[in-house]
Amino acid sequence: MAIAPISNTYEDFIKAFHPKSGLDLKFYKQNQMQRRILSFMNSHGYPTFPEFFKALNSDQSLYDAFFKHLTINVSQFFRDTNQWKTLKESIIPQLLQSKSPLKLWSAGCSSGQEPYSLAMTLMEYFPNSKFTVLGSDIDINVLNQAKEGLYKQNDFASTPPEFLQKYFISTDKGYQIKESVKRLVTFQHQNLLTDRFQTGFDFIACRNVVIYFTDEAKEMLYKKFTDALKPGGILFTGSTEHLFGMQHLGLKAVSSFFYQKG
Ligand SMILES: C[S@@+](CC[C@H](N)C(=O)[O-])C[C@H]1O[C@@H](n2cnc3c(N)ncnc32)[C@H](O)[C@@H]1O
Repeated sequence: MAIAPISNTYEDFIKAFHPKSGLDLKFYKQNQMQRRILSFMNSHGYPTFPEFFKALNSDQSLYDAFFKHLTINVSQFFRDTNQWKTLKESIIPQLLQSKSPLKLWSAGCSSGQEPYSLAMTLMEYFPNSKFTVLGSDIDINVLNQAKEGLYKQNDFASTPPEFLQKYFISTDKGYQIKESVKRLVTFQHQNLLTDRFQTGFDFIACRNVVIYFTDEAKEMLYKKFTDALKPGGILFTGSTEHLFGMQHLGLKAVSSFFYQKG
């Protein structure tokens, strides 16, 4: 199919990129996004938006590399050790006072390190607990890696060594997560900005996902998360993501980076 020509502007590029990718870049801060896009174009030898857009339509590996560059899917098991300590020592014990199985969600889960860390925390420290973990992401490639569950040494920089021994099998390709952890986590392809959410969550982690979102997009997303939480449920944010001025959403800080729905 012929590709309609676009002009050499950021606005025209993001308008044309949206139906192709499902990613509406108007929800992302223009300065930072434009800079990221231009640096990618530059390093791949495309001087203008029309030439670059044409190439994206004919070269699937260029498209995949660009999508990965835009969505920035760096992650790690137990990223931000102190927060995982708080989670284990105070947040989860409080949530477990409810009798029903816990429903947890890692929104923007990259290749699965965060949802698997949640599952391992519950298995290790709360062995009698019942729970499910959902991991979702907009990038189908990272979700496929998550489902495969094969990791490299640098994914474990913040992982207690005993977890690596207990929950992974060392293979010549890397560390394979055990089936006992895998079966507790399901993965879903989802755009947080436009798709509908499930409801009734006890716990939602959304960390290091909103960095490039506009303030309006962040507020809309935190409102959707609040609606998706049960009363008393917890939203866990990234270590640079404070919900200043969002009291009107009905979330109150119970610890740094943990917010509870009233
Ligand atoms: C830096 S990773 C964070 C992974 C993990 N939460 C952590 O903190 O280690 C950000 C992830 O958010 C995903 N993401 C970005 N925009 C998204 C959107 N609109 N909907 C769903 N996922 C999105 C990216 O694909 C990427 O995998």
